[in-house]
Amino acid sequence: MPESKIHTRYKPENRFTLYKGDCFKLLEKIEPNSVDLVVTSPPYCMGKSYEDPKDDLTTFIKQHIRLIPEVYRILNPGGSMCWQIGYHVKNSTVLPLDYIIYDIINRQLSDEIRDGLVLRNRIVWTFGHGLNSSKRFSGRHEIILWYTKGSEYDFDLDSVRVPQKYPGKRHYKGEKKGELSGNPLGKNPSDVWDVPNVKANHIEKTEHPCQFPVVIPQRLIKSLTPQNGIVLDPFAGSGTSGVAAIIEKRRFIGSELSPEYYAIAKKRMDNAISGEVSYREDTPVIEPDLKTAVARLPDEFIAVRKLDESYQRAIGLGIGGKQ
Ligand SMILES: C[S@@+](CC[C@H](N)C(=O)[O-])C[C@H]1O[C@@H](n2cnc3c(N)ncnc32)[C@H](O)[C@@H]1O
Repeated sequence: MPESKIHTRYKPENRFTLYKGDCFKLLEKIEPNSVDLVVTSPPYCMGKSYEDPKDDLTTFIKQHIRLIPEVYRILNPGGSMCWQIGYHVKNSTVLPLDYIIYDIINRQLSDEIRDGLVLRNRIVWTFGHGLNSSKRFSGRHEIILWYTKGSEYDFDLDSVRVPQKYPGKRHYKGEKKGELSGNPLGKNPSDVWDVPNVKANHIEKTEHPCQFPVVIPQRLIKSLTPQNGIVLDPFAGSGTSGVAAIIEKRRFIGSELSPEYYAIAKKRMDNAISGEVSYREDTPVIEPDLKTAVARLPDEFIAVRKLDESYQRAIGLGIGGKQ
């Protein structure tokens, strides 16, 4: 029976550790070459409730110049570092933080780290909801940078395949003409992931203001770590990476500075251990059902947009939105 206790003090033999405090204090205790995946979403230093109001882009850069060498040190050769990151917005200027991370690794750290961390994917995580902008296009994506430590690594694609839109497609010419053309397990999820973000009505929502959904670390854990492998999240927040690690039967090490979020993370991880945690399964985002009232274009919008009848029929609306 695997151990089910969540330890607060790190020991290498623990199955689950959730340290209440500064990640740097935790990281210094971890042996070199011992962790399979470090997955996190760091503070963006933009005035969130869990950030010091004085924190800014310089804070972000300094923190990462200190952090990435520690992550590199503890990663197993062939292990992965996955950074989920968005934009630093100040005075209406948007700055892509993945660019900052890339620059730190390539220009501001040692040659060993620059050559040792190999960028495998820049994944675009896209979602349907968020703030609506009136002076620029509304932001509906963030980024996940996936680096491996060294050139040899394992990638279990079959564990994260997603359903094809048209699984019945067949080769239409050549030797395989008439045979099914897709993989029976599904298709590669690609480097664009359409996964709902955790807003008010999301089944995973807690009091934490910036959770990522379980599916994000879950896909990375499944494809990039072995069974029983070790996953670490230095900025654990509400414990999402811990929950994903437990669901996927991996070991977990995390740290969280805020006592309030620590308590949430601990509870969610306990619930994951007992099989009672709520999370959204990795299923495709479905298109709206045009038969439901809220999916129909209201008469008022039709009047404003001056849609003609043929257009309405083409998008399956029927005249005046009534079907
Ligand atoms: C963007 S949130 C992470 C959210 C997380 N991915 C989730 O799904 O809940 C960043 C978290 O890092 C925590 N934090 C900030 N500085 C920290 C530090 N030095 N050590 C540990 N945790 C820290 C913050 O309190 C915050 O909860």
